[in-house]
Amino acid sequence: MSGESCHIIVFANEKGGTGKSTTAVHTGVALAAQGHKVAMLDLDPRQRTVTRYLENREETARRRGIDLPTPEFEVFTSTDDGALDAQYRALAERNEFLIIDTPGRDDAFAKYMAARAHTLVTPMNDSFVDFDLIGQVDAESFKVKRLSFYSELIFDARKARAKSDGITIDWVVLRNRLQHLEARNMRRVGEALNELSKRVGFRVIPGLSERVIFRELFPSGLTLLDKGQLGNLGFSHLAARQELREMVAGLALPSVEQAEAEAEMEQSAA
Ligand SMILES: Nc1ncnc2c1ncn2[C@@H]1O[C@H](COP(=O)(O)OP(=O)(O)OP(=O)(O)O)[C@@H](O)[C@H]1O
Ligand SMILES: [Mg+2]
Repeated sequence: MSGESCHIIVFANEKGGTGKSTTAVHTGVALAAQGHKVAMLDLDPRQRTVTRYLENREETARRRGIDLPTPEFEVFTSTDDGALDAQYRALAERNEFLIIDTPGRDDAFAKYMAARAHTLVTPMNDSFVDFDLIGQVDAESFKVKRLSFYSELIFDARKARAKSDGITIDWVVLRNRLQHLEARNMRRVGEALNELSKRVGFRVIPGLSERVIFRELFPSGLTLLDKGQLGNLGFSHLAARQELREMVAGLALPSVEQAEAEAEMEQSAA
């Protein structure tokens, strides 16, 4: 496999706690479960959320004596671009997908990898506090007033990339922790995002709803896709699994089956 054919997905948002690691790890496991060769590179050596999640997953597989589809994973701990370059290229060389999780702060290595992504995913909580990092809205009308520094940074990175190697980075803003009970806020954030998406050129996709299960699965490293390992799933967990599938489908990755037929069958059986 040549590094060139590996599809690189970077999860980045300078704001902390927006769901980068959670959505990254679920995407990685979903692709591995579909039989793809996937690697994850953790650029957050302090928190190591992705690494710890996948270590917990391997431990669960050992403890229960089962096979769990799991991406290959590594942490980046060095302090120079050259080492990062060598590490990500080696992973890209032997995998179809490379998923990179980045820390929630201004970080030179996150920018380095964002500029090399095929798909750049920016998860955000459905709140104007998170929105502020990509654009600022008017206090009365909620109309977008100006782009933020971060949007301009990504905008420039995309322009530079298109010029240097003709690749358009697919920038996807993923709405995480959606709360359907807060319909008015959800609509306002949605309208502001749609307006901004036309100006900056990102796509908006729905992510995961706010659900306790996404916090509870961490110690076992399991995901909602691990059928048969989670006990009897209630309706809300089946709905969450469907959301997860739609989130991965929304990323529109090359050669990824949509898994819709399977999901429909499951729904009609439920
Ligand atoms: N859909 C969800 N429902 C409920 N809790 C969630 C959901 N998504 C993420 N969380 C929780 O929100 C917190 C932040 O998520 P996560 O660690 O994935 O964010 P992050 O962007 O990687 O944070 P950081 O910037 O610190 O790396 C965690 O406690 C996680 O379990
Ligand atoms: Mg994280």
